[in-house]
Amino acid sequence: MSEHIHLERDQGLLIIRMQRADKMNALTRAMYGAMADALDAAGEDRSVRAVLITGSETCFTSGNDVADFIQAPPSGLDSEVFRFMKALFDFAKPVVAAVSGPAVGIGTTLLLHCDLVYVARDAKLKMPFVNLGLCPEFGSSLILPRMLGHARAAQLLLLGEAFTGEQAAAWGIANEALDDGAATLARAREMAQRFEQLAPSAVAVSKRLMREPGREELRQVIMEEGELFGQRLRTPEAIEALSAFMQRRKPDFSRFA
Ligand code: COA
Repeated sequence: MSEHIHLERDQGLLIIRMQRADKMNALTRAMYGAMADALDAAGEDRSVRAVLITGSETCFTSGNDVADFIQAPPSGLDSEVFRFMKALFDFAKPVVAAVSGPAVGIGTTLLLHCDLVYVARDAKLKMPFVNLGLCPEFGSSLILPRMLGHARAAQLLLLGEAFTGEQAAAWGIANEALDDGAATLARAREMAQRFEQLAPSAVAVSKRLMREPGREELRQVIMEEGELFGQRLRTPEAIEALSAFMQRRKPDFSRFA
């Protein structure tokens, strides 16, 4: 349970909404836990045909709560973030995302594990892991170079460059870019609702077939990234970068060889 995760049922559609406006929907352990529980329950509930993940009309999420990263860094497979991402990775039914405003860190990574993604044209996606002294997570180091080619993936993962919703759609990370947050949510909802008219086990089998090739390799990469990410959170480089964010200053990596 988390007051910052709002669940809504609209017939066969479950909408999971991240709702922590004062911190740009930064994700806490409780929020990951609530989303993992919601996915687990939706997987068991035969009346749920699809899940829609969204934030507000102006912000998807600013990523993992940076204060949490400093005070209570996630520790491996037992962490709530891992439980959430595993639930998403293993979810048998379609998952649709509606993204407006910032989608930082895991806010972009999680899109790689959704089936359909709708973005506002001016949404700002970013994976600033290296900028924070960290490394890519949950399969992005494998998925993105394959999807975009090494050069563009390096721009996003090594430099941590931001990109727009328009670019995300042009590059195949998203299905479609729409004019604003309201239009994005409306289109995502409309597409997610289509699954109510489709045969559920045909959808599930087809999703499994699409995801199966290379899945074991992806699972192994996710484990390796998780191990390294956990180690990196405790390095002086990451502590400098995360503290700098909290203190609203630029990180200084000059003392690191
Ligand atoms: N964790 C914790 N707090 C966060 C946060 C995060 N990931 N992202 C934003 N916040 C907080 C800010 O500290 C600020 O809190 P305060 O009002 O108590 O000072 C509040 O949310 C508003 O954020 P602010 O940075 O002032 O808003 P903005 O509109 O100028 O910028 C973002 C929005 C999303 C671009 C910016 O907050 C950002 O880049 N956050 C990214 C954090 C990050 O690196 N996440 C990745 C983790 S891997």
